[in-house]
Amino acid sequence: MKLQHNALIDLLQKAYSAEKAAAFAYQGHAGSVKNKTEKAAIYQIELDEWNHRKEVLEIMQQYQIPVSNWYELRFHIIGKVISFSCYIIGWFMPFYFAGSLESGNVCEYFRMKHFFNGLGITEHDVMLYEMGIKEKEHEVYFLSKIKNNKLLPLFEKLFNWGSKKSFNNVDLDAKYPVEASDVYCKAKRMEYADQDGIPRSRTYKTTT
Ligand SMILES: [Fe+2]
Ligand SMILES: [Fe+2]
Repeated sequence: MKLQHNALIDLLQKAYSAEKAAAFAYQGHAGSVKNKTEKAAIYQIELDEWNHRKEVLEIMQQYQIPVSNWYELRFHIIGKVISFSCYIIGWFMPFYFAGSLESGNVCEYFRMKHFFNGLGITEHDVMLYEMGIKEKEHEVYFLSKIKNNKLLPLFEKLFNWGSKKSFNNVDLDAKYPVEASDVYCKAKRMEYADQDGIPRSRTYKTTT
């Protein structure tokens, strides 16, 4: 069966290649940190990204979607450049931008799920949900490393991601099950309260 959905096809092709870029980037990131626990955690995240790439490929093969040579080249270069840059931009920035990218990746998988469901296909729901949740875990890990860093408020202002802003509305402490996960990544912007009861603005990059 072939998919009649260009946006979904493009999203799958892009995610397949972007996972490689992420894995390359984490090779440099793990190589550049000195702390052994951080090294091990980032290496585990690299393995998660290779696993995502394998799972996305399985879905693509099922619908005879070819790998995009252009995305493969583009993300190969991006991944290698980021990997190398981790050795020269200090400790904070690799953690910050990894967290920010992971935050955006969460909704990529939920958007795929919305698109598939729109075509009446639900067989990938669990896999896509788990990939989205895994990206959220990655985001939370990177944020946990920098949330008390004095540079975070400035970067959060500049790049719209940090302890008060996220590119998705997934909350691991109050997770919806897969059947109810449709609420994830649907709104562009939403207000809801953090622990202190003050409504915060959460920005979304999703276009759905
Ligand atoms: Fe991933
Ligand atoms: Fe990730």
